[in-house]
Amino acid sequence: MKKVLTYGTFDLLHYGHINLLQRAKAMGDYLVVGLSTDEFNSLKGKKCYFTYEKRKKMLEALRCVDLVIPENSWEQKVEDVKEFRIDIFVMGDDWEGKFDFLKDYCDVVYLSRTPEISTTQIKKDIADKKD
Ligand code: CTP
Repeated sequence: MKKVLTYGTFDLLHYGHINLLQRAKAMGDYLVVGLSTDEFNSLKGKKCYFTYEKRKKMLEALRCVDLVIPENSWEQKVEDVKEFRIDIFVMGDDWEGKFDFLKDYCDVVYLSRTPEISTTQIKKDIADKKD
Protein backbone atom coordinates (compact mmCIF):
# COMPACT_ATOMS: atom_id res chain seq x y z
CA MET A 1 0.00 0.00 0.00
CA LYS A 2 1.36 3.40 -1.04
CA LYS A 3 1.03 6.09 1.64
CA VAL A 4 0.97 9.81 0.88
CA LEU A 5 1.49 12.68 3.35
CA THR A 6 0.71 16.37 3.05
CA TYR A 7 0.52 19.30 5.49
CA GLY A 8 -1.48 22.48 5.69
CA THR A 9 -3.87 24.71 7.59
CA PHE A 10 -6.95 24.10 5.41
CA ASP A 11 -8.97 26.94 6.96
CA LEU A 12 -12.24 27.83 5.16
CA LEU A 13 -11.88 24.63 3.10
CA HIS A 14 -12.10 25.56 -0.59
CA TYR A 15 -11.83 23.89 -4.02
CA GLY A 16 -8.07 24.64 -4.24
CA HIS A 17 -7.63 22.47 -1.12
CA ILE A 18 -9.90 19.75 -2.55
CA ASN A 19 -7.94 19.70 -5.84
CA LEU A 20 -4.68 19.32 -3.93
CA LEU A 21 -6.02 16.56 -1.66
CA GLN A 22 -7.62 14.59 -4.49
CA ARG A 23 -4.44 14.70 -6.59
CA ALA A 24 -2.37 13.72 -3.54
CA LYS A 25 -4.63 10.73 -2.84
CA ALA A 26 -4.53 9.68 -6.51
CA MET A 27 -0.75 9.23 -6.17
CA GLY A 28 -1.24 6.39 -3.69
CA ASP A 29 -3.76 4.42 -1.64
CA TYR A 30 -3.80 6.13 1.75
CA LEU A 31 -3.64 9.88 2.44
CA VAL A 32 -2.44 11.32 5.75
CA VAL A 33 -2.98 15.05 6.33
CA GLY A 34 -0.83 16.87 8.88
CA LEU A 35 -3.16 19.65 9.99
CA SER A 36 -1.62 22.74 11.59
CA THR A 37 -2.86 23.14 15.16
CA ASP A 38 -4.12 26.50 16.42
CA GLU A 39 -0.96 26.84 18.53
CA PHE A 40 1.31 26.14 15.55
CA ASN A 41 -0.65 28.65 13.45
CA SER A 42 -0.14 31.32 16.14
CA LEU A 43 3.57 30.58 15.95
CA LYS A 44 3.40 31.10 12.16
CA GLY A 45 1.43 34.33 12.66
CA LYS A 46 -1.70 32.79 11.09
CA LYS A 47 -5.14 33.28 12.61
CA CYS A 48 -7.74 30.71 11.58
CA TYR A 49 -11.48 31.24 11.29
CA PHE A 50 -12.19 27.61 12.23
CA THR A 51 -10.59 25.86 15.22
CA TYR A 52 -8.34 22.83 14.76
CA GLU A 53 -11.18 20.46 15.78
CA LYS A 54 -13.56 21.96 13.22
CA ARG A 55 -10.96 21.96 10.42
CA LYS A 56 -10.13 18.34 11.33
CA LYS A 57 -13.80 17.32 11.19
CA MET A 58 -14.18 18.80 7.70
CA LEU A 59 -11.07 17.05 6.37
CA GLU A 60 -12.18 13.73 7.90
CA ALA A 61 -15.50 14.05 6.05
CA LEU A 62 -13.67 13.96 2.69
CA ARG A 63 -13.53 10.63 0.86
CA CYS A 64 -9.93 11.28 -0.24
CA VAL A 65 -8.60 11.79 3.33
CA ASP A 66 -7.81 8.68 5.39
CA LEU A 67 -6.17 10.13 8.49
CA VAL A 68 -5.68 13.59 10.02
CA ILE A 69 -2.77 14.10 12.43
CA PRO A 70 -1.75 17.30 14.24
CA GLU A 71 1.08 19.42 12.85
CA ASN A 72 2.66 21.00 15.92
CA SER A 73 6.03 22.08 14.58
CA TRP A 74 8.23 22.50 11.49
CA GLU A 75 10.56 19.77 12.76
CA GLN A 76 8.19 16.79 12.97
CA LYS A 77 8.15 15.85 9.27
CA VAL A 78 10.96 13.29 9.25
CA GLU A 79 9.48 11.55 12.31
CA ASP A 80 6.00 11.52 10.73
CA VAL A 81 7.36 10.06 7.47
CA LYS A 82 9.05 7.28 9.45
CA GLU A 83 6.17 6.64 11.88
CA PHE A 84 3.47 6.43 9.21
CA ARG A 85 5.76 4.69 6.66
CA ILE A 86 5.14 7.38 4.06
CA ASP A 87 6.11 6.73 0.42
CA ILE A 88 5.31 10.15 -1.07
CA PHE A 89 5.35 13.61 0.49
CA VAL A 90 3.18 16.09 -1.42
CA MET A 91 2.83 19.87 -1.15
CA GLY A 92 1.56 22.68 -3.35
CA ASP A 93 4.23 24.36 -5.46
CA ASP A 94 4.17 27.49 -3.29
CA TRP A 95 6.51 25.29 -1.19
CA GLU A 96 8.69 24.21 -4.16
CA GLY A 97 12.13 23.06 -2.95
CA LYS A 98 11.39 23.76 0.73
CA PHE A 99 11.06 20.09 1.74
CA ASP A 100 13.68 18.50 -0.50
CA PHE A 101 15.50 17.29 2.64
CA LEU A 102 12.75 14.64 2.93
CA LYS A 103 14.07 13.00 -0.27
CA ASP A 104 16.37 10.97 1.99
CA TYR A 105 13.24 9.25 3.35
CA CYS A 106 10.55 9.27 0.62
CA ASP A 107 9.58 10.77 -2.75
CA VAL A 108 8.86 14.49 -2.63
CA VAL A 109 6.35 15.97 -5.09
CA TYR A 110 5.17 19.59 -5.48
CA LEU A 111 1.80 19.93 -7.19
CA SER A 112 0.71 23.06 -9.04
CA ARG A 113 -1.61 25.27 -7.01
CA THR A 114 -5.14 25.89 -8.24
CA PRO A 115 -5.12 29.47 -9.55
CA GLU A 116 -7.10 32.38 -8.10
CA ILE A 117 -8.23 30.85 -4.82
CA SER A 118 -6.81 30.91 -1.31
CA THR A 119 -8.07 31.29 2.25
CA THR A 120 -6.40 34.71 2.35
CA GLN A 121 -8.24 35.74 -0.84
CA ILE A 122 -11.62 34.55 0.50
CA LYS A 123 -11.12 36.54 3.71
CA LYS A 124 -10.09 39.61 1.71
CA ASP A 125 -13.08 39.35 -0.65
CA ILE A 126 -15.51 39.06 2.27
CA ALA A 127 -13.87 42.00 4.08
CA ASP A 128 -14.01 44.12 0.88
CA LYS A 129 -17.73 43.38 0.43
CA LYS A 130 -18.45 44.71 3.94
CA ASP A 131 -17.05 48.15 3.02
N1 CTP B 1 -3.33 24.89 -2.21
C1 CTP B 1 -3.48 24.68 -3.60
N2 CTP B 1 -4.16 25.59 -4.36
C2 CTP B 1 -4.69 26.70 -3.78
C3 CTP B 1 -4.56 26.92 -2.39
C4 CTP B 1 -3.88 25.99 -1.62
O1 CTP B 1 -2.99 23.69 -4.13
N3 CTP B 1 -5.32 27.57 -4.57
C5 CTP B 1 -2.58 23.93 -1.43
C6 CTP B 1 -1.32 24.54 -0.81
O2 CTP B 1 -0.29 24.61 -1.77
C7 CTP B 1 -1.04 23.57 0.31
C8 CTP B 1 -2.46 23.13 0.77
O3 CTP B 1 -3.34 23.49 -0.33
O4 CTP B 1 -0.32 22.45 -0.17
C9 CTP B 1 -2.92 23.81 2.03
O5 CTP B 1 -2.74 25.20 1.85
P1 CTP B 1 -3.16 26.31 2.88
O6 CTP B 1 -2.00 27.22 3.13
O7 CTP B 1 -3.85 25.73 4.05
O8 CTP B 1 -4.27 27.09 1.99
P2 CTP B 1 -4.28 28.54 1.36
O9 CTP B 1 -5.60 28.73 0.73
O10 CTP B 1 -3.05 28.74 0.51
O11 CTP B 1 -4.22 29.43 2.69
P3 CTP B 1 -3.54 30.85 2.95
O12 CTP B 1 -4.14 31.84 2.02
O13 CTP B 1 -3.88 31.13 4.41
O14 CTP B 1 -2.04 30.64 2.75
